[in-house]
Amino acid sequence: MNTKDIITLAIESSCDETACSILKNGREVLSNIISTQIDIHKKFGGVVPEVASRKHIENIDIVVQQALEEANVDFGDITHVAVTYGPGLVGALLVGLSYAKMLAFTLGIPLVGVNHIEGHLSANYIEHKELKPPFITLIVSGGHTHLVEVKDYGKYEIIGKTKDDASGEAFDKIARAMNLGYPGGPIVDKLAENGNPNAVNFPRACIHEEGYDFSFSGLKSSVLNYLNSMKMKNIEIIPEDVCASFQAAVIDVLVYKTIKACKDKKYNTVTLSGGVASNSALRKKMEEECYKSGLNLKYPPLVLCTDNAAMIGCAGYYRYKNERRDGMDLNAVPNLKINQG
Ligand code: KG4
Ligand code: ZN
Repeated sequence: MNTKDIITLAIESSCDETACSILKNGREVLSNIISTQIDIHKKFGGVVPEVASRKHIENIDIVVQQALEEANVDFGDITHVAVTYGPGLVGALLVGLSYAKMLAFTLGIPLVGVNHIEGHLSANYIEHKELKPPFITLIVSGGHTHLVEVKDYGKYEIIGKTKDDASGEAFDKIARAMNLGYPGGPIVDKLAENGNPNAVNFPRACIHEEGYDFSFSGLKSSVLNYLNSMKMKNIEIIPEDVCASFQAAVIDVLVYKTIKACKDKKYNTVTLSGGVASNSALRKKMEEECYKSGLNLKYPPLVLCTDNAAMIGCAGYYRYKNERRDGMDLNAVPNLKINQG
């Protein structure tokens, strides 16, 4: 390792993944260890915050040791520690944050707090080495649905967001109502591959509204009403068709608003990020529409779409370069906004 290299040790524990990653100069991932609790929370049909915090405590040390080993790096090689401090579940965030503070303090190196949403969009910098701002990004995850202008590293303007449910939340709720399992997104995605997206005409909320906001709770109610009315009439539903029709309604709005924002604001690059960016139909439709409109589309590989620490390390690297430093008083901020810290 060159002495000028900046080595980031990044920690993520905002929800149900305990993760640690080591990066060289922000965009080169030396290790990316993710310990997921999905199997534990599956039994409850969703993340149980108290259980998530306890599991983070059990896992964090193991995950950090593995990340160091796999990267072939010692504590002495680390330049700074980057850690998610919001948004997320407060108890879960505090585990990673306390561990990161302990490391930074004992090693005598800077602590850099990272915004989880900024982490998601930064996953694209890791995969696409040539990518640099400005561009438009669509951040779609279990907790967030944001359309953001990335004006520079660390400079964001939110131009659209969901008024109610996040897009991933809608996938999870529909899957739950259909008893498909948790998390719902990947299951709905898979079933939808063999379904007819035109089988049921679910609403495309906000599509004709001014601006770039989204809304998914009406769509969710519409799917629930459909399921109930079919049950009352004793008509068996075709899960593949319901999944494909629901998914198409989500995707149509996401794609339409993203392309419109790019055209209105004269951007030629668009990126996708967050767990829902793994969705195969979203990637395909966005690809087709970007191609038609002459826009460049970038998205991360699947492992960098859902929660991971490499994306936190990349965002943390740019924060470090921009002189961001946090003290031992850094607290978890469960509802931190992308442009607020
Ligand atoms: O980014 P993420 O790991 O966590 C948050 O920060 O929220 O996103 C998790 C969300 C879940 O709602 C999950 O159902 C959804 O991403 N998801 C998907 C797919 N894979 C994960 N949604 C649709 N299609 C997928 N293939
Ligand atoms: Zn996330």
